[in-house]
Amino acid sequence: VNALYFDHSSTTPIDPRVANVMYQCHLEGLANPASQHRSGRIARKRLEDAKSRIAKLLGIDGPSASRTRLVLTSGGTESNNLALRGWAPEAGDGNVVVSSLEHPSVRETALHLEKSGCEVRWIPANSDGEIDLEAAAQLIDARTRLVSVMIANNETGVVQPINELVAICRTHGVPVHTDAVQAIGRTSIDFHELGVSALSLSAHKFHGPPGVGALVLTEANDFSPAFFGGKQQFGYRPGTETVALAVGMCHALELATDTLAETVQQMQRMRDLLESKLVETHGDTVIHGLRAARRLPHILNVSFPGVDRQALLMALDQKGVACSTGSACASGSSEPSAVLISMGCSEDIVAGSVRFSVGRETTRQQTLRAAEIIGHLVAKLR
Ligand SMILES: Cc1ncc(COP(=O)(O)O)c(C=O)c1O
Repeated sequence: VNALYFDHSSTTPIDPRVANVMYQCHLEGLANPASQHRSGRIARKRLEDAKSRIAKLLGIDGPSASRTRLVLTSGGTESNNLALRGWAPEAGDGNVVVSSLEHPSVRETALHLEKSGCEVRWIPANSDGEIDLEAAAQLIDARTRLVSVMIANNETGVVQPINELVAICRTHGVPVHTDAVQAIGRTSIDFHELGVSALSLSAHKFHGPPGVGALVLTEANDFSPAFFGGKQQFGYRPGTETVALAVGMCHALELATDTLAETVQQMQRMRDLLESKLVETHGDTVIHGLRAARRLPHILNVSFPGVDRQALLMALDQKGVACSTGSACASGSSEPSAVLISMGCSEDIVAGSVRFSVGRETTRQQTLRAAEIIGHLVAKLR
């Protein structure tokens, strides 16, 4: 394993307390929560308790809670697919508006919809990594069936103006879906305050178990399921629910919520320390999203002009530093970042970009050591 793990945006280690709660759950040998016998009813209660605690922690409370549904999924990718496909209109029957900054699980689902004849409109980004709200206002109209914009970007950490976007959508009565996968555990999230109609989350991004996430959505008559063959989860996502995964996600969210303020401060301190050390060593380091109104506290996306990102990633890996350069492609390199391209970055800047992401346990000593190694390798690769 990498002693210096700076890739918490990709995944976070499961919290041992979460693993323990899940282990106990498995040992109990819970029955199928859809079974009608006593054992099934016990499993159902555990499942429903976990789901309602998750909903509460996401700000779903009070009278409107009965109109909100929490659908368990396998993670962020599935939640995003479900949301877009669930609301997509038939060809010629309206449009879907998504931002050009979205994670591939939204972007490629939108491209798939486009291929199937659905009209997709793309909101451009500005050079700070935020969506262009004026352009969004032009694209959204009464025929828009869904708008999907993430809370914060997974490559740059830039927080998007969701409240302003929701206000635009309200004037047309259009639902908004938001991908909160990177945001949970890194900023406070309140479903009702956001004013969105659907939100995706994924447990492995906040020290929960991999393989579980959720799509939270307000009751939707026109939502079409992507899967068939069971009555579980309102038929939106049929199949036997895994109680231990729901319990694990719930506990991880409780722990993340309890310590949010300290965690955010700690992550921000380490991210800023890394940022300042890199700029100190190489004055031409480009920090992406620096001028945006807000960035999540854990992500640092930097470009070292003249350095090949893949060569840097591999050299860093050899020295024990884990970071990320975007999705791998067939050549063994990585695809150039669609996010940085949509922010108008030049080829050289895109070619030299890497993402470092700190976690709640990243120490000052680790950060200083990583900065030293990165600085040294950047000089060597030039
Ligand atoms: C913003 C965002 N959305 C969706 C996903 C996909 O989540 P999962 O890995 O749970 O499928 C990720 C994962 O990196 C992400 O960062």
